[in-house]
Amino acid sequence: MSVTVRVPAKVNVQLAVGAARPDGFHDLANVFLAVGLYDEVTVTPADELRVTCEGPDAAQVPLDRTNLAARAALALAERRGIEPNVHIHIAKDIPVAGGMAGGSADGAGALLACNTLWGTGASRAELLAICAELGSDVPFSLVGGVALGIGRGEQLTVLEAGGTFHWVFAMAERGLSTPAVFREFDRLAQGRDIPAPVASAELLAALAKGDPDALAASVSNDLQPAALSLFPELADTLDAGRGAGALAALVSGSGPTTAFLARDPESALKIADALRASGHCRTVRTATGPAPGATVTQGPASR
Ligand code: C5P
Repeated sequence: MSVTVRVPAKVNVQLAVGAARPDGFHDLANVFLAVGLYDEVTVTPADELRVTCEGPDAAQVPLDRTNLAARAALALAERRGIEPNVHIHIAKDIPVAGGMAGGSADGAGALLACNTLWGTGASRAELLAICAELGSDVPFSLVGGVALGIGRGEQLTVLEAGGTFHWVFAMAERGLSTPAVFREFDRLAQGRDIPAPVASAELLAALAKGDPDALAASVSNDLQPAALSLFPELADTLDAGRGAGALAALVSGSGPTTAFLARDPESALKIADALRASGHCRTVRTATGPAPGATVTQGPASR
């Protein structure tokens, strides 16, 4: 028997970053929107813990116990005093090191899949607590939809979205490390007063209304200057999308994936074609959001 869980990618429509905390993390006001690009995590009983991965970026995915999916299985097994003997297979469609929470998606997916396979019966609250231990973005991968994350980004409040938003994502030729982008944020912030991060009322209203123009006017990413500083060519990609009619163009999370908000599906296709033609990016994808969080698609809970 095996269990498969499908988990979405995310884009941050607002990423307000505060000053570095004593623990090295940064307080955030992080508005996550799940979008319909998915990884699929399948778990099958095995003699020992093993991770395999397929997909265009599979070669960059660690298959040892540093993989968030393996860490999720280990964390749940340890809490229950059972052996984590499971084969975790990741069908990866979310770009690796792209700022779209691909690794977090695999952590949340493996956790939900193992909980289902092993019949461990962990509550939603316990699963969320384990997710928060695994990483700041992992709880959102479980929940999906739209949510505000405060603290490190792990303390979630679910938000309503009044419609579907159309997005185009341009994946870059190389990745960016999230800690390196936060370090660059700190370097650029030296000598400046960093205000406490707060969610934008205009942005939350735009999401609730499902209004793409209002959303475009209020998106923001405080990590964008740091990502552009480490990866200046991203500015050309942002310009190419804006030139093709994107309502908003921004770096997704810590990057280097760039995200373009389109008015409608036709405009999204036009922006995607222009980005492909620009030669600035590795892959271009369209996706809509909000998308549902981690969902069992094969196994006991789906029957
Ligand atoms: O929580 P996660 O393991 O995903 O974080 C990866 C890295 O990103 C952290 O080690 C830290 O450098 C940075 N980070 C941060 N503040 C946050 C979230 C992440 O500085 N709120």
